[in-house]
Amino acid sequence: MANVIVVGTQWGDEGKGKVVDIYAKNADVIARFQGGNNAGHTLVVKGEQTILHLIPSGILHAGKICVIGNGVVVDPPVLIGELNRLRDRGLLPASTRLYVSEKAHIIMPYHRRLDIARELHGVGKKIGTTGRGIGPAYEDKIARVGIRLCDLLDEEIFQEKLNRNVEEKNFYLTKLFGEEPLDGRAIFEEYRAYADELRPYAADVSLIIQREIDRGRKVLFEGAQGTHLDVDHGTFPYVTSSNTVAGNACCGAGVGPLAARSVIGICKAYTTRVGEGPFPTELQDETGARLQQVGQEFGATTGRKRRCGWLDMVLIRHAVRVSGITGIALTKLDVLTGIEKLRICTGYQTEREEFTESVPANLRLLAQCRPVYEELDGWTEDIRGARRIEDLPRNTRRYVERIEEMASARLVLISVGPDREETITLNNPFAD
Ligand code: IMP
Repeated sequence: MANVIVVGTQWGDEGKGKVVDIYAKNADVIARFQGGNNAGHTLVVKGEQTILHLIPSGILHAGKICVIGNGVVVDPPVLIGELNRLRDRGLLPASTRLYVSEKAHIIMPYHRRLDIARELHGVGKKIGTTGRGIGPAYEDKIARVGIRLCDLLDEEIFQEKLNRNVEEKNFYLTKLFGEEPLDGRAIFEEYRAYADELRPYAADVSLIIQREIDRGRKVLFEGAQGTHLDVDHGTFPYVTSSNTVAGNACCGAGVGPLAARSVIGICKAYTTRVGEGPFPTELQDETGARLQQVGQEFGATTGRKRRCGWLDMVLIRHAVRVSGITGIALTKLDVLTGIEKLRICTGYQTEREEFTESVPANLRLLAQCRPVYEELDGWTEDIRGARRIEDLPRNTRRYVERIEEMASARLVLISVGPDREETITLNNPFAD
């Protein structure tokens, strides 16, 4: 059993799409287990860019089973649109199968409206959400009023649940936010059409995955966002509304806790964050602007500029612990080329104590933290042609080695450019 979980170690956008795409070649099943179309995985294949928000990145490989697990929240028009676009561009191999868990909760128009209204009208602090209705959809799941795919597919149940929800949500929209109400009948008609399109994909994905595992097939669990956006382990409340850590691969796909043997943590060679919230190593200077520009750090979902800063090993160590990461995939190393002096944050210092293993939970305390840096010499050589660790310049190797030492997890992959080929593979987790 060589099943692998891939998760982000920072605040998302670590380059998971490329790594998952590479590993997908060795996997038989690729499963997403949390999040929704707030995620955006940018893939570059033969110079052509594809952005996937919901469908697992493995879809581009022929003969794979791609799964959207029960832990994902699904926006039907987004999923249908993504499938149609892939099909139109000839990127959907006929032998690839997609299954969507019948237990996955559906994002409804009122979820998007409430998400945006809350951010606009300032109920609570602004989180800087993607406005895709992710939080409200998960709220309804926990409140036990959400609509699952199997409910959408049953007209009677759908009608009943929709009526109840529209009545309640219109109350909030009109009375609390002073907005126009939603038309339940129009939603019913629109979503009935989506139901017909999604029916062929609906399945008991837990069972499908287990049957594949029993046959000795390899599963890749594809996480979205990053550890520090996890609703329990991240910088709450500036987080997303799901668990992004590796443990949720089991819950969100319906497999037991021993289903995976490796957990690969994706770590960008510097740090970025979209939306609000604390960011101790943020650079609001020329270096930050340079990272943003050279790294093309724009949100794949919202197009917002990402905030940029130095690599923060407190974040990474915290992530290694809470996800049980066994290997690190380091991405976007080439973006650092040409910066004379590089800094790595080794800890946070307050007047009273230093934090090296964990990000403090108390936001007031976190705001007092000053990053402690280790400085390293940079490099000017173009590293995009490197395919072995020995091909990297001495200073690059030093940077990479320090990350490995401080993370207490071995490096399994180094990405030196956006293309599939621009990669140094050290250990393939599927081959272990
Ligand atoms: P939500 O997930 O749309 O509710 O947004 C909550 C927070 O998570 C915001 O700060 C978003 O910018 C952030 N977020 C959500 N998805 C991603 C992602 O895929 N990459 C980076 N940030 C994300």
